[in-house]
Amino acid sequence: MYQDKVALVGGALGLVLEQIKQAIAQRGQCSLVLAGGSTPKPLYEALAQQDLPWEKLHIFWGDERYVPPTHPDSNEGMAREAWLDAVDFPAANIHGMPTSAQDPQKDASRYEAELREFFGVSAGEFPVFDLILLGMGDDGHTASLFPQTAALEVCDRLITVGEKSGQPRLTFTIPLINQGRCVIFMVAGANKQPALQQVFAETADPVAYPSRFIQPQGELWWLLDEAAGTVLKSF
Ligand code: 6PG
Repeated sequence: MYQDKVALVGGALGLVLEQIKQAIAQRGQCSLVLAGGSTPKPLYEALAQQDLPWEKLHIFWGDERYVPPTHPDSNEGMAREAWLDAVDFPAANIHGMPTSAQDPQKDASRYEAELREFFGVSAGEFPVFDLILLGMGDDGHTASLFPQTAALEVCDRLITVGEKSGQPRLTFTIPLINQGRCVIFMVAGANKQPALQQVFAETADPVAYPSRFIQPQGELWWLLDEAAGTVLKSF
């Protein structure tokens, strides 16, 4: 879907609202995984203007920088400021990734245990989230699954530790994302064109462009603004 930035938000908002309402209608609640970075912020601000049954939404994060929610780099902090703290959202429904143990692997295990308890799944099983929002970096990474990293090989856990420029991050694993009922990539900016071209090409190595690993059992949507998406018009 090639759209300008405004349409990117509009397209994403319409799709997200549809998926939220469908999950609530079918299962009584919606498990929504938020993306970090800058692209989704206008979407979160638009969601704050909606009149939804917030008590039926449960919010998770697909990855988190290893900083407290009050840190300017925090993905949770961005979503709280743009949306969650601006509406009457039940605190118990906001499942932020823990980053306080000063031990990323320990916090990854803690979040994994929290997810298993929330979904009632045991070791070896992967929970199914209703809706997973993702961004894509200009190197083709998604969540905190960076090219040529060990996190790409983790297939027996829900949460693992990623790393960017020596900085640890917590991230969903590829198999957990691929269990999603609906996965939506939101990608904006001309700087994303080269990675998009590789991700959509049949030849690129997913280890070099990890977004290629995302092949969910459910729906997969790519919402691209004009600046990013123009590179795919030849596909
Ligand atoms: C993060 C994100 C990351 C992000 C991409 C795109 O923690 O940074 O989860 O995967 O989605 O890097 O970021 P932008 O939206 O800022 O381009």
